[in-house]
Amino acid sequence: MAALPSSVKAFYKDVKNFIIPPKHTTPISITVNKKTYKVTADTRTTLLDLLREQLHLTGAKKGCDHGQCGACTVHINGKHVLSCLTLAAQAAGKEVTTIEGLAEGDKLHPMQKAFIECDGFQCGYCTPGQIMSAVACVNEGHTKSLAAIKEFMSGNLCRCGAYNGIVESIQKVAAL
Ligand code: FES
Ligand code: FES
Repeated sequence: MAALPSSVKAFYKDVKNFIIPPKHTTPISITVNKKTYKVTADTRTTLLDLLREQLHLTGAKKGCDHGQCGACTVHINGKHVLSCLTLAAQAAGKEVTTIEGLAEGDKLHPMQKAFIECDGFQCGYCTPGQIMSAVACVNEGHTKSLAAIKEFMSGNLCRCGAYNGIVESIQKVAAL
């Protein structure tokens, strides 16, 4: 590099700056599972990465990181969202709930109990996202028919094929 003329070096620097935009950070105040965190994050940080890497809440899983599998599903202000497609900054000042915040102490959420009772999982990798979507499915009233449940849950993939148990769990909780 030292032997290159300065004009060539300047050219490489311009290309590098174009390809790798400079990092911008922003302070974020975010409430997760009723606890408020004040963090500084790259403006491009997704909510999923913030939860897992900065807040060490690893319940939400990174399956595809492209909005295709539902493993990263969490709730923001009670609505289910894909945290891999949500910027952390978008959740600032809002109430985020992850799978870690669903139980009350040792008392499991009814949906967590139902997943255990109905064999709603095998390896468990997709389960946090399935449960967060399942809770939203019941809360938002999409349980009138089997088809409505399947349609609502269609964004959550399960490679173990535990779909029958997942649907049964939702029907069980909807009937409570
Ligand atoms: Fe977010 Fe797959 S990791 S949808
Ligand atoms: Fe294994 Fe769903 S339980 S991917």
